Amino acid sequence: MPGKNEIIHKEDLNSESFRLCVYAPEIVRKHLPGQFVILRVHEDGERIPLSVVGTDSEKGLLDMVVQVAGKTTRLLSGLSRGDSILDVVGPLGRPTGITKVGNVVTVGGGVGIAGVVKITRAFLEEGNTVTGIIGARSRDMVILEREMRAACHTLHVATDDGSAGKKGFVTDILRGLIGDGQPIDEVLTVGPLVMMKAVADLTRPHGIRTVASLNTLMVDGTGMCGCCRCTVDGQMKFACVDGPEFDAHKIDFEELLRRQYMYADLEKTSCETCRIEENLQNGG
Ligand SMILES: Cc1cc2nc3c(=O)[nH]c(=O)nc-3n(C[C@H](O)[C@H](O)[C@H](O)COP(=O)(O)OP(=O)(O)OC[C@H]3O[C@@H](n4cnc5c(N)ncnc54)[C@H](O)[C@@H]3O)c2cc1C
Ligand code: FES
Repeated sequence: MPGKNEIIHKEDLNSESFRLCVYAPEIVRKHLPGQFVILRVHEDGERIPLSVVGTDSEKGLLDMVVQVAGKTTRLLSGLSRGDSILDVVGPLGRPTGITKVGNVVTVGGGVGIAGVVKITRAFLEEGNTVTGIIGARSRDMVILEREMRAACHTLHVATDDGSAGKKGFVTDILRGLIGDGQPIDEVLTVGPLVMMKAVADLTRPHGIRTVASLNTLMVDGTGMCGCCRCTVDGQMKFACVDGPEFDAHKIDFEELLRRQYMYADLEKTSCETCRIEENLQNGG
């Protein structure tokens, strides 16, 4: 039997992202679509939130995709099959409200596609007609296309450079569907803040219920530190315990966009230190 939090499978998806399959049967047993986990790689390490792409309840496996963004995701990328992750905590956050609403469109952008797969499948299994839209910069950055295709009735792909699917943004495809009069009862989106804001701006005038899963900065994931705070409908909320999903038409995206990069300089320094440490360890 694998050890606690043991990496059972690790696979590069492109130059920036890799897939990670971890043995965590207790989390798998309780995980519901829309919930996330928090990982800590070593004793002094920071905690990073990750979405769950899928779960294998028979084998107790948690499937995730990691995009290397800074220090901790780089450390994680250095682990191999058979290594164990120090802490995997979850499931955290509130699950998606999966009900039979009729016609659902799920929109995933970049590594946000990882957060939309299990939710898309759950809407399908609930008896909805589900359209998926996924987008990335270019063909090699489109992740989990096969999984998304299996999770919905129709899948549209958009790339910024047109190397796969339709050239343009996911919002161009959504605009087209709305323009064609396709019935849409609910839109759920996971991805970069600018993309989710654009989705919300697009659906608002049409009165289409829209839910966004916020990927704010997080530290403790338990509502204690306030790092993930956001304003929804004029009220302060914590994405880790009140979310991560909120009514996208009520989220103050401008505030989140301003706060997103406030630790960027510190993170850059931390990443550079990490590289120097790695070089020293490798005798460089
Ligand atoms: C609910 C939730 C689910 C997530 N799911 C995934 C996932 O499935 N796969 C994945 O790769 N990432 C996911 N993220 C983002 C991931 O947690 C961050 O990329 C990670 O914490 C970065 O850690 P780091 O130490 O490697 O980089 P850092 O050094 O902390 O950051 C590097 C750069 O990324 C930016 N950054 C850090 N955290 C975030 C964030 N939350 N959102 C946007 N930019 C950020 C920083 O401002 C900085 O510019 C999720 C975040 C949340 C809140
Ligand atoms: S991450 Fe600390 S309150 Fe949400």
